[in-house]
Amino acid sequence: MTEPAWTRKDLLGIGELSVAEIELILNTAESFAEVAERPVKKVPTLRGKTVVNLFFEPSTRTRVSFEIAAQRLSADVVNFTSAGSSQVKGETLADTAKNIASMAPDFVVVRHAHAGVPAMLARQLECGVVNAGDGAHEHPTQALLDATTIRLHKGRIAGLTVAMVGDIMHSRVVRSNILLLTRLGARVRVAGPRTMVPRGIETLGVEVHHELEPALAGADVVMMLRLQLERQSRTLLPSLSEYSRLFGLDAERMRLAKPDAIVLHPGPMNRGVEITSEVADGSQSVILEQVGQGVAVRMAALYLLAGTREARS
Ligand code: NCD
Repeated sequence: MTEPAWTRKDLLGIGELSVAEIELILNTAESFAEVAERPVKKVPTLRGKTVVNLFFEPSTRTRVSFEIAAQRLSADVVNFTSAGSSQVKGETLADTAKNIASMAPDFVVVRHAHAGVPAMLARQLECGVVNAGDGAHEHPTQALLDATTIRLHKGRIAGLTVAMVGDIMHSRVVRSNILLLTRLGARVRVAGPRTMVPRGIETLGVEVHHELEPALAGADVVMMLRLQLERQSRTLLPSLSEYSRLFGLDAERMRLAKPDAIVLHPGPMNRGVEITSEVADGSQSVILEQVGQGVAVRMAALYLLAGTREARS
């Protein structure tokens, strides 16, 4: 079967992608994973192209992995972080965008505290824009790397039971994952305190739990989330230790899931809060593999978007 062609200028969210487009990115990422095994980890695909990483929010994994992905494709990479940019000096985002456009990059990868900023930049800029996380909205490449990690271990997504636990309300990782996993036929459960699960989330086709145990029962995949304290406008928890007692994943609770279940976490982890070190570092954890998959997925995204740019020029 021939793969469908990629025709989008930007990658803004899972919400806009068809099943065929999601599968195209996952399959392309799978073929790029092999580059990491080579002695010389580079392909010439994006030679002479410039990728600007524009991070207005802290990031370790995502920014570094976009940078490595671009370099493995032979692109030139420039990193802007908010601490060093003019936004802290009061420049508007529209002016920042115009200035970036004047430097003629081929791709802008953007992370911002406000939902919709990548989409706004995509409208203003002629280059390809990739959303690296916008507020509590979407984080598409994270969901895609979670999906490649799951496929690697389980061989499929359809029919799996996936439990996502924690701060469902503020997590862009959860939103993108719900959209992706339900679209590919997984059964998705979300679990968290009532104050951290948005009302009406079941309309997205997920099962909702306010206790950890039923969410874990018989799960194939368990995805633990960090409390997004920086996005919570008021205290939604009596205390961290209370949260950890009710929703923290430890080895004993993990036994409720299938014996061959895997544990994911997008990072950064708060050890001892949502997950114990025993589970995070244990044999069922694939947390570090997720990080490795992140590079392949971001290579795939940049590669596919570059194809659209070629076709348009
Ligand atoms: C996540 C993010 O920034 O949305 N981290 C990541 O990109 N790997 C999750 C988080 O911050 O907890």
